[in-house]
Amino acid sequence: GRVTYIAHDGARHTIELAEGESLMRGAVDNQVPGIDGDCGGCAACGTCHIHVAADWLGKVGPASDAEREMLQFADGAAEDSRLACQIRMRDELDGIVVHTPESQH
Ligand code: FES
Repeated sequence: GRVTYIAHDGARHTIELAEGESLMRGAVDNQVPGIDGDCGGCAACGTCHIHVAADWLGKVGPASDAEREMLQFADGAAEDSRLACQIRMRDELDGIVVHTPESQH
């Protein structure tokens, strides 16, 4: 499925992500700036913090407890915050749009 990452300055990167792969992995493998994924995807570093575009939040679903805990430490975390490593591509997320925080650039 398609994922579009929008940076704080408006720069857009759209990639093709295989089913089951995380939005963190897709960004790192495609050199999309703004997502580091230091912990390798186990919800333990917070460097893959993203804001999910409003119209996609419902499809992504709520953050898990572990995710929410980690997000407490993320800069500028809000209701639309998620960890990109915890969102995996599936059919209904094809076309998803997320924003990368300025602090991660
Ligand atoms: Fe570390 Fe997502 S990659 S929390």
